Amino acid sequence: MIVCANPSAQFQSYQAEIEAAVNRVLHSNRYILGPEVEALEQEFADYIGTSHAIGVANGTDALELAIRALDIGPGDEVVTVSHTAVATVAAIEAAGAVPVLVDVDPDFFTLNPEQLQEVLTPKTKAVIAVHLYGQAADLDAIGKFCSDNGLSLIEDGSQAHGAKWKGKRLGSIGHIGCFSCYPTKNLGAIGDAGLVTTSDEKLAHKVRMLREYGWQQRYISDIPGRNSRLDELQAAILRVKLRYLDVDNGKRRALAAQYSSLLNGQAIQTPKTREGAEHVFHLYVVRTRNRQHLIDHLKAHDIHAGVHYPVPVHLQPAYQGRIRTATAMRITESLAQEVLSLPIYPELETRQLNEVVKALKHFAPKGD
Ligand SMILES: Cc1ncc(COP(=O)(O)O)c(C=O)c1O
Repeated sequence: MIVCANPSAQFQSYQAEIEAAVNRVLHSNRYILGPEVEALEQEFADYIGTSHAIGVANGTDALELAIRALDIGPGDEVVTVSHTAVATVAAIEAAGAVPVLVDVDPDFFTLNPEQLQEVLTPKTKAVIAVHLYGQAADLDAIGKFCSDNGLSLIEDGSQAHGAKWKGKRLGSIGHIGCFSCYPTKNLGAIGDAGLVTTSDEKLAHKVRMLREYGWQQRYISDIPGRNSRLDELQAAILRVKLRYLDVDNGKRRALAAQYSSLLNGQAIQTPKTREGAEHVFHLYVVRTRNRQHLIDHLKAHDIHAGVHYPVPVHLQPAYQGRIRTATAMRITESLAQEVLSLPIYPELETRQLNEVVKALKHFAPKGD
């Protein structure tokens, strides 16, 4: 069987070091927000190129706490895309703010900056740029729109740990960066985990307070906060994996290049990389008009492809009819029918990739 993502293969790659890290924590008597979290925060901040990183419980919380730290809440609007993990939108509502969704561009499937003006209102406070599938959104155009209109720029780097935009790591360019470390992510824990990055001292301080009941001093809440603490086991595991992130991202890029050259000339559309972006291929997403038949065909060869994502957020039952969007959501709505994520992870072998390509080449479309 060839799976789409494979966190257990990654555990096996670094098993001895991960087990040693886990053992160290088990014997430490500090299980939550201790020295491992502090060390991870320092190492991740150094890696991303920000002055601060703050460990939190998951990626959704990273976004929610970032929004709250920016003093954005009830009555305020936050603009993002509908073609994303539902978490991006759920986090805006969890912070009490109102999500407003725009379409993505047709080539790279990230936020279409041309629609920002159309949805701008006096209530707009921030834009969340989602670096989807492992590559940067158009941060120049989005960043300019934000600075021209006094808006905060939040980067959702949950699918793009280590990726760059014009030489800088994602998560270091906007006011604040948010990362999920869900097990399948490029930097994945063995459980839930998240990180927030910023070079703004005040924002970092506020995220730290918010993640633990608004405390500066234990048991005294200065602001209303929550529990979004990161535990020591996950931090210790992430520290091991962070050391290999660049190597693993290099393997993903090499696999993506092999797919793209072998699939050249086939009826499916392979992913494009934006000029100025260093892609880390969290997902290798092709576009096809025969998706369901292709999924079934691959399954018959024991190959499991994914769909990211099958229903745009604004059309999901929880949101449909009550979320404001840009007038045209054409690309988002067609991608939901056509995107297909082929297996990709650092341990995927060339032999397996060749099997996927062979199966794709033998596919005879029936027409959906
Ligand atoms: C783009 C994006 N944002 C946010 C999240 C939320 O992260 P988590 O599942 O850790 O809450 C994810 C991952 O699921 C994601 O892919």
